[in-house]
Amino acid sequence: MELRDAIEKRRSIRDFKNTDIPADILNYAIENAFKAPSYNHLREWDFIIVRQMETKRKLIESEKLEKEINMTELTKMFEKEDSIMKGMYLDAIPRQKKMILDAPTVVIVIFKPKTTVEKAKKIYALNYLASVWCCIENFLLSLAEHDVFGVTYIPQNITAIKEKIGIPPGLEIAAIIPVGYKSDEIKFLKQKEIDIQSRIHYEEWK
Ligand SMILES: Cc1cc2nc3c(=O)[nH]c(=O)nc-3n(C[C@H](O)[C@H](O)[C@H](O)COP(=O)(O)O)c2cc1C
Repeated sequence: MELRDAIEKRRSIRDFKNTDIPADILNYAIENAFKAPSYNHLREWDFIIVRQMETKRKLIESEKLEKEINMTELTKMFEKEDSIMKGMYLDAIPRQKKMILDAPTVVIVIFKPKTTVEKAKKIYALNYLASVWCCIENFLLSLAEHDVFGVTYIPQNITAIKEKIGIPPGLEIAAIIPVGYKSDEIKFLKQKEIDIQSRIHYEEWK
């Protein structure tokens, strides 16, 4: 497949088929993830593959996702926002718990930070975070190449998850990625259209 096709194909999917993904597709995506640029050349990333409901429940509990979402409250929260952004949040937020429970595989991407976000004084000090996201994009594109999709969920209660899953001190969670084949009922939301030429600047900002 051409790179452009995989890029076009990749979308965030939150409704999954109840079909396992072959281990070789997952391994291929992880191998490609490790080919991403790495700020300190050390590629300090790990992948935890979650398949058991018991482990998924630990994620749901840690993230306090058990509660049903009140759509009226949610709609109110986003009423003043850009309509495309609002549409995306109203579609995505009610699916956060289900996507973790229904995806046949959930991948937790771990990285080793150099410093804590609180201590970082320059963007440069956050290079470890930039690197792990390069790694995540390689992973997602490589899955899309095989019609497998994921969605990057960013946990809020990382300390609780680290304790429950036994992630060693000094390592952090970049994203929890439910992964699988997309359900046949998926409707893609409109994405913001960008006038690309207006975003390209030559020599200086004009
Ligand atoms: C850093 C980052 C954080 C994100 N966090 C979440 C999240 O917590 N939950 C979720 O459902 N989607 C999350 N997303 C997915 C975005 O909602 C999605 O990428 C966006 O709507 C564009 O859609 P697309 O991925 O289909 O192109 C995140 C994406 C990025 C890059």
